[in-house]
Amino acid sequence: MRTKIVAGNWKMNKTARETEILLNELSAKLPDTDAEVMVAPTFVNLTDAVRQLESSAIQVVAQNMHFADNGAYTGEIAADMLLDIEVDTVILGHSERRAYFHETDELLAKKVKQAIEKNMRVIFCFGEELNDRKAGKHFDVVAKQLKNGLFDLPESAWAQIVLAYEPVWAIGTGETASPEQAQEMHAYIRKIVSDAYTNSIAQKVSILYGGSVKPGNAAEIFSKPDVDGGLIGGASLVGDDFMAIVKAIG
Ligand code: PGA
Repeated sequence: MRTKIVAGNWKMNKTARETEILLNELSAKLPDTDAEVMVAPTFVNLTDAVRQLESSAIQVVAQNMHFADNGAYTGEIAADMLLDIEVDTVILGHSERRAYFHETDELLAKKVKQAIEKNMRVIFCFGEELNDRKAGKHFDVVAKQLKNGLFDLPESAWAQIVLAYEPVWAIGTGETASPEQAQEMHAYIRKIVSDAYTNSIAQKVSILYGGSVKPGNAAEIFSKPDVDGGLIGGASLVGDDFMAIVKAIG
């Protein structure tokens, strides 16, 4: 059985007070579930979020981190700083980091390596843009992102990796990949992980889908055999919507 995960990526939203209010609501309404439930508030609110969720099953994760141990990197956050506040999972490679902050596959490979060495768990995001899909290049784009970002890792690192396929054209647009498109890509991802490593690693890695997952479409997407959960943006900012998505995974 693969681990099921529903993770809310809050992006650059919610003040400290708003974070507290939403986390209260989420812990009060968290349904019984086999899935791991995660939230990623902004850096400045992580410490308080961890404290607030101390006795909750909801995990607090980070949206990004730097590849270096420490040093002259103004504005950046190091792995040890996250671990120090008991955050041991980090989202890396989100398409907004790639597009707006010019994070390349090579940079992401360094960040992933650092997170693995620090014994952290990584939710590694990747996905094609609309032009790629229109040109029929989506499989190649995804294969390249995975190869460049992850395939230098040793086999042992894969226990710490969660994959998040997020077609860029579906993020924040209200347009979702159809459940069939998600399944097709997830099955392909498992195949290339199997080819690069082993079938056992490919069968064990959780692959999340992200891109306009909402209460109304979550159950159908999650019902697909190779979809192990979701990375949720907009809908994770509304307590009832996020909890409805958690319920949809069962
Ligand atoms: P969305 O964002 O659910 O708002 O489309 C998904 C994501 O960016 O992870």
